[in-house]
Amino acid sequence: MRIGVAREIKPQEYRVALTPAGARELVQRGHEVLIEESAGAGSAFVDDAYVRAGARIVLVDEVWEASELLLKVKEPIASEYRRLRERLTLFTYLHIAADEPLTRALVESGIAAVAYETVETDDRRLPLLAPMSEVAGRLATQAGAHYLEKPLGGRGVLLGGVAGVAPGRVVVIGGGIVGYNAAVIALGMGAQVTILERSVDRMRHLEEVLSGRVSLLMSSTLQIEESVKDADVVIGAVLIPGALAPKLLTREMLREMKDGAVFCDVAIDQGGCAETSKATTHDDPVYAVEGVTHYCVANMPGAVPVTSTKALTNVTLPYVEAIAEHGLAAAVEGDAALARGVNVLEGRVTYEAVADAHGLDYTPLRDVLPLAAA
Ligand SMILES: NC(=O)c1ccc[n+]([C@@H]2O[C@H](COP(=O)([O-])OP(=O)(O)OC[C@H]3O[C@@H](n4cnc5c(N)ncnc54)[C@H](O)[C@@H]3O)[C@@H](O)[C@H]2O)c1
Repeated sequence: MRIGVAREIKPQEYRVALTPAGARELVQRGHEVLIEESAGAGSAFVDDAYVRAGARIVLVDEVWEASELLLKVKEPIASEYRRLRERLTLFTYLHIAADEPLTRALVESGIAAVAYETVETDDRRLPLLAPMSEVAGRLATQAGAHYLEKPLGGRGVLLGGVAGVAPGRVVVIGGGIVGYNAAVIALGMGAQVTILERSVDRMRHLEEVLSGRVSLLMSSTLQIEESVKDADVVIGAVLIPGALAPKLLTREMLREMKDGAVFCDVAIDQGGCAETSKATTHDDPVYAVEGVTHYCVANMPGAVPVTSTKALTNVTLPYVEAIAEHGLAAAVEGDAALARGVNVLEGRVTYEAVADAHGLDYTPLRDVLPLAAA
């Protein structure tokens, strides 16, 4: 199969959908790999590294026009809509339930659009979202430690403390993938860590893997109120699948927090879990409310594109290989998780939540397959 990798043109996006190592794997399996000029530059992969892996460097028109499978990281932006077409499979983060113009452009183009974020295993895991949660969780603690520094408006506390001086306190609300990873880094820095969770099963798991090194508490309004009062860093890491984040932290709770404490709301991409949260960018990541520094960057992994690119491509490559090897129709027949990733196919919306979000007709995937254009 001819597999293309487009350069991301969305502002502040430095990731790329395939590493030179991934290109090598595909070339070795007999596929042709086209990389748009400078596509890997933001992640420190020069064109030459792809050439050495057996790929060919091409211009933007060729990568879109000649590919059968096009890999991207972010959804196409408006200036790319005219490039969407039949006989092309697009594999990328799409998030189209929140983007009606793009949904319509995909439907009208006849493209096959497979979304990373809706690839879902039978036990309801989202394998192509998980690595970005790992990155964001680990970065959250790092950001918290950074903004605790006095010159940055923080309390002036060193998270790990030193011999004879107590460490800082980190409170993580939500002990899923983000929360676990935030806790691991906080422990590594020597902080005192508390995780508030709502799921008893998840707490049992955390108890096992963190072997008693953190305090695990049942999340409730009262418990949150009491825990955040003493915290130096609070990390918001809750998720209710398919819904906006619950507003667990009120302005009153923030007022009771220590002056110069840091609140890092990782759940901001689902609206945030504090009354006072509003999305920020890497250019201007923080603002203060009630004396608490709020860090609410909606695309945290974008700050560390080298790590994020590798983490993302580690998990996408097996799916890319399956599509390249068997074609989309056979690949989705053999893998229910990948089948759930198909959002738009042959002018039909095949993902129910997307159709519902925009009042469009929903067609189950099995009614569209086998692909007429394949
Ligand atoms: N800002 C970013 O750049 C970025 C990057 C990745 C993920 N995220 C977001 O981070 C959030 C967490 O993602 P995740 O992958 O860890 O999800 P996850 O499903 O693995 O974990 C969420 C956890 O929250 C718990 N929870 C739900 N309600 C709670 C409550 N009231 N109190 C305490 N815990 C509660 C759940 O039991 C679950 O364990 C999501 O909103 C996700 O979109 C943001």
